[in-house]
Amino acid sequence: MDPSTLARLEAWLRYGEDLGLAPYFLNRAPNSAPMATAAPAPAAPAPLAAKPKAAPLPAPPAVPTRAATPTSALPLIPHPPARSLFDVSDRIENDTLPRIRDDIGDCTRCRLHQARTQIVYGVGNPKAELVFVGEGPGHDEDVQGEPFVGRAGKLLTQMIEAMSLRREDVYICNVVKCRPPENRLPEKDEIATCSPFLFRQLAAIQPKVICCLGACAAQTLLETNQGISRFRGEWFDFRGSKLIATYHPAYLLRNPNAKSEVWKDLQKVMSLLGLQPRKR
Ligand code: URA
Repeated sequence: MDPSTLARLEAWLRYGEDLGLAPYFLNRAPNSAPMATAAPAPAAPAPLAAKPKAAPLPAPPAVPTRAATPTSALPLIPHPPARSLFDVSDRIENDTLPRIRDDIGDCTRCRLHQARTQIVYGVGNPKAELVFVGEGPGHDEDVQGEPFVGRAGKLLTQMIEAMSLRREDVYICNVVKCRPPENRLPEKDEIATCSPFLFRQLAAIQPKVICCLGACAAQTLLETNQGISRFRGEWFDFRGSKLIATYHPAYLLRNPNAKSEVWKDLQKVMSLLGLQPRKR
């Protein structure tokens, strides 16, 4: 498509988005590419005021869809479609980690703010080639304001060091930035509210590899409900990065036998990044 047609189409789609019609335009056709493509961006952080309802617009031009894929050839994660123009246009130009943190502010967008001690934003190298994404802060993280500093965090640090990296070489963050009470799983609406900031963090860093720690991170970024054991250790494309999911370190504390599986996943990451295991 030539740039001026693209610009006009994008302007029209933006208009629809302003009217609250954005999901109408998403192309949810199954992706027939051999490697599954990650999810479209979720909506922007919850607006303060509801958008006014608009009269229905005439039907937009059909967004081209991929040819139907035979069921037998469906990729493991069938849902993530080709990216829509919204995924392209939701990017904030020259976004930076400090700016995203500023935009989070003293957040009260969801109920998780009520019991938190502080927001746990993320830590590490803003130009990291490797980003680890966890679920949400636990007690220690809530107190210290840094992700993965408790028992599971210490195990993650050991994993990072076994890859011949240091914690400060990578970037570490979570899907939700406030501790869920009693360390419960974050709820869907809490994830929907908070994850746009994670998407922006990842877009600002543009790592070579995103390693999802546990089902919550993997399911959020890949927009799937499938259990992590179905796709753990597989590579996915995620907006210019490679994405892999592995078990959460907290799971490894309860199931040490799974450590060998995780080490296999981390070795895949190392080989993609050209890293040799640390010499003992
Ligand atoms: N578990 C997570 O998912 N994130 C943390 O920061 C700590 C524990």
